[in-house]
Amino acid sequence: MQIRPLSLLGLLLPIISVQANVEKTIFLAPPASTIPSKEPSLDDLGVERLSPQNSVVRTRLNASFPTTAASQGSDSWFFLENLNPGQRYEVRVCWLSIQPTSFTLTTYPLSQTIEDTALLSSLSVYTAARLATIDSQLQEDAIPRRAGSPREMKSLDTAPSSDSVLFLRVHAAADYFSTNKTLMREVPPVAVDLILDPFLFNVFPRSLVPTAGWILVVTVLSVVLGRWIVGEVGRVIDDARRQRSLEEMKNK
Ligand SMILES: *[C@@H]1O[C@H](CO)[C@@H](O)[C@H](O)[C@H]1NC(C)=O
Ligand SMILES: *[C@@H]1O[C@H](CO)[C@@H](O)[C@H](O)[C@H]1NC(C)=O
Repeated sequence: MQIRPLSLLGLLLPIISVQANVEKTIFLAPPASTIPSKEPSLDDLGVERLSPQNSVVRTRLNASFPTTAASQGSDSWFFLENLNPGQRYEVRVCWLSIQPTSFTLTTYPLSQTIEDTALLSSLSVYTAARLATIDSQLQEDAIPRRAGSPREMKSLDTAPSSDSVLFLRVHAAADYFSTNKTLMREVPPVAVDLILDPFLFNVFPRSLVPTAGWILVVTVLSVVLGRWIVGEVGRVIDDARRQRSLEEMKNK
């Protein structure tokens, strides 16, 4: 059976064109601050949490075309907790290139978020919308709490706890043009993975260690192999030279 090159291309194209894009922010974890757990605020906000123990969140974010009022699109908020004070981290957002979006990630300390009226109002709008969605889904999409961690016990009592935390704001602006009027009017939510990644020794993202390991193995192997090949070739040349001089001596 003959496979036409064009149909093969048609098979491969969707695979090639579905790539993931990445945007990130790098930050140092702040000193631990006291979180008054008596306040209803934090646990009832409905924002998703990221921590070194729970480092990946797969979700859908609302996006919109930039307007003069919201030049970077729609806001979404997340809460980063259980951080190691002074350690460097990055948060990445990964999304498919079939949903062209421009993301901006910014982290804010707790105090700044509460004191800055613009930030606080953006956070309130987001949590109100999110809590409404959660309610309408009959609590199906429950707010992920610190399930299973020993901290959950602690958060149940009313004593204030101390933790290194940050708010993360994600702006999502639609970045496409379509002849489809529906798509130009309503931007579909963007499927994303949000990943919190600590840096090893504050210089190197931990998730890149396997890749770096492979590069190192390949480099060392190629040096060793290269030396060996050079040595072997040298030996063969030496042997040939020695044999020739032996023959020349015999012929004399
Ligand atoms: C996302 O957009 C939908 C549709 O516009 C809206 O109903 C919902 O409240 C938004 N969710 C958030 C968290 O803003
Ligand atoms: C426009 O896009 C929407 C959402 O993706 C889709 O449901 C609809 O079929 C599209 N319309 C046309 C005319 O392609």
